[in-house]
Amino acid sequence: MLYFRRSSLVYLILPSLIAQLASAVSLTLSTNEGNASSPLLYGFMIEDIDHSLDGGLHSQLLRNNGFQGKDPSLEAYAAVGNVVLGIDSINPVSKAITRSLKIDIPGGTTGQVGFSNEGYWGIEVREHTYNTSFWMKGSYSGNVTIKLVGVINGDEYASKTITVTSSDRSFQYFQTTLSARAASNGINVWTLTFDATKAAGKSLNFGLVQLYAPTYHSRWNGLKPELAAPLEDIKASFLRFPGGNNLEGASENDRWKWNETIGPLHTRPGRQGDWGYPNTDALGLMEYLYWCEDMKLVPVVSVWDGFALYHGGATPFTGTALEPYIDDVLNELEFILGDKSTPYGAIRARYGHHDPFRVKHVQIGNEDAHDSEGCRTYPERFTQFYNAIHKVYPDLILITSNPNPGCLPEHLPKGVWIDNHLYTHPDAMVKDFNYYDNLDRANPFVVLEYAISQYAPPNGTNIKWPYMQGSVAEAVYMIGMERNSDFVKMAAYAPLLAHLDYSTYTPNAISYRYSKSTIVFSTTYYVQKMFSSNRGDTISKLDSDTGFGPVYWVASKLENSSTYYVKLANYGADEQMLSVDIPGTLSGKLTVLSGGKDDYNSDLHPNTIEPTESDIKGEGGKFAFMLPAWSVAVIVLK
Ligand SMILES: *[C@@H]1O[C@H](CO)[C@@H](O)[C@H](O)[C@H]1NC(C)=O
Ligand SMILES: *[C@@H]1O[C@H](CO)[C@@H](O)[C@H](O)[C@H]1NC(C)=O
Ligand SMILES: *[C@@H]1O[C@H](CO)[C@@H](O)[C@H](O)[C@H]1NC(C)=O
Ligand SMILES: *[C@@H]1O[C@H](CO)[C@@H](O)[C@H](O)[C@H]1NC(C)=O
Ligand SMILES: *[C@@H]1O[C@H](CO)[C@@H](O)[C@H](O)[C@H]1NC(C)=O
Ligand SMILES: *[C@@H]1O[C@H](CO)[C@@H](O)[C@H](O)[C@H]1NC(C)=O
Repeated sequence: MLYFRRSSLVYLILPSLIAQLASAVSLTLSTNEGNASSPLLYGFMIEDIDHSLDGGLHSQLLRNNGFQGKDPSLEAYAAVGNVVLGIDSINPVSKAITRSLKIDIPGGTTGQVGFSNEGYWGIEVREHTYNTSFWMKGSYSGNVTIKLVGVINGDEYASKTITVTSSDRSFQYFQTTLSARAASNGINVWTLTFDATKAAGKSLNFGLVQLYAPTYHSRWNGLKPELAAPLEDIKASFLRFPGGNNLEGASENDRWKWNETIGPLHTRPGRQGDWGYPNTDALGLMEYLYWCEDMKLVPVVSVWDGFALYHGGATPFTGTALEPYIDDVLNELEFILGDKSTPYGAIRARYGHHDPFRVKHVQIGNEDAHDSEGCRTYPERFTQFYNAIHKVYPDLILITSNPNPGCLPEHLPKGVWIDNHLYTHPDAMVKDFNYYDNLDRANPFVVLEYAISQYAPPNGTNIKWPYMQGSVAEAVYMIGMERNSDFVKMAAYAPLLAHLDYSTYTPNAISYRYSKSTIVFSTTYYVQKMFSSNRGDTISKLDSDTGFGPVYWVASKLENSSTYYVKLANYGADEQMLSVDIPGTLSGKLTVLSGGKDDYNSDLHPNTIEPTESDIKGEGGKFAFMLPAWSVAVIVLK
């Protein structure tokens, strides 16, 4: 006799009855050995898109603080009192931060005046000690007051006055802490004010304003704990960074430049990102690597390969024109991997990391096959990079930017991994379930971006949120990859994070908004978490009396604890009876995510679909339970 539990009700099912049900799938552990499973299979891809980093995972809370990018503006700032704000490029904060905020104080002005910054469309204020800092130039001796203030009610949640002496010869740095009480919503601003009588008829300059709440792992300039924690819960294995398209740059000069993302923040110029807004690069190369250390992720470092995103028909850099960029990558690798006696290793040590970082994976470029010139020249460019890097670092695993045989060297060196991205619609993704069953296994594959995407049919509908059918399709594809994870080494959903007040690309796994203190965990987020946090180290073969579809499955075993993980997806409108027979197991935990085909979690209804957990008991290793329509499930059996 078998038991299963649905919600809080326990059902008893006779094994003989299961066989008679119209839709019943029975899975039995095979006596044949399964394939090895990649210990790195599930991970993250991150790039700064839709304020996933600046204004997202990165912990600095004030926006437009360096007036970076191609269209500098006063966005996020407002005057406090009777003063005039302007952008000043005659008074740069530093060589890298080339603009500052100029405040003209009309003659005769009195009282407190200054400016505010609204952060990334709101600033959540909690009961924290905040760090805040600014640069200042101009003749002034007196008090400066920093506050966190509610916009609607004018309430002050924090206030700190410091006495400064500033001169008009050069910019000076000021830093202080700020104790705040919690605000009831995120519609708050940071303000800086000073005594107008002491500056009337003159101007003062301010730059690189910053506000930090306590960070994940208490890192200086680190990550936001409230977004880092749910990422950590996924128990991912790797992090691919810094792109994606955002690595490439609209032009060669706009590309992500590693050596402009390290060191003190006023030495980082930032750049015009590829997703419509400037990047501060405050989350730079070392911050990515610290993130990997703190979350135990294997870094996958993507490097610029001579191809810019909008190259305007110009030929990508090849041959001798490519050499300076290869040298630049070798410098970056020395910074990451070199002993501190090497020139770049010494810089890393000076910035606080004495030992080399642990990096074993480097990807050459991003999606070169998406462009005819990119494709045509990639074989030559990849080979140049491969030869140069492999010579110095023979143990590094190098990864291509695309899987297209026409855009790759004819003979790919052994040990090179091939990256295949997939953005499509649900039916097409499910069709690709067995794609990796049928590939040549000479070179391992990675899937460093995949998702049901916004451009997906039904016919161009703009999908704003991951939805149940799409997330089930992703689960089916993930099952296909896990079955083949002896040679599919890594897979990452993208994009991972997005700010709801700056959304150009949807859907995303996690989205957030500060004015309402909202974090939305999508159905896709839950699928990632369920699959990644339940992994064995070998794949176990399951025999079945039915073929794949609409139910898909994969099982794995954790060698030394005789724990089995069975992952299931029901890509269909009917519920399915499942029986799973794994001799020797006694009890299990069943986690199910299910919902209507088109249902989704959103800012208005963030908890529509959430996984439910229940205990299941087996008899003689036999378990039976019902898999709802449009569902993803994981059972852990011991
Ligand atoms: C293991 O890999 C082979 C291909 O090498 C594939 O045919 C087989 O189905 C895989 N085994 C499992 C358990 O997925
Ligand atoms: C400056 O601030 C300090 C500390 O809040 C205060 O004691 C002092 O009176 C202020 N000075 C002026 C001139 O406002
Ligand atoms: C604030 O700055 C101090 C001094 O730099 C540092 O020790 C502390 O960790 C910082 N706190 C936060 C929340 O960043
Ligand atoms: C970064 O590296 C490039 C290439 O080596 C060099 O030209 C440039 O000056 C460096 N920039 C900084 C800020 O060190
Ligand atoms: C999309 O449009 C095409 C052509 O108009 C049509 O054949 C197809 O059935 C549509 N697909 C969906 C999913 O609506
Ligand atoms: C399992 O245990 C054996 C013996 O203790 C050990 O040699 C092996 O490395 C372990 N395997 C894993 C995957 O931990």
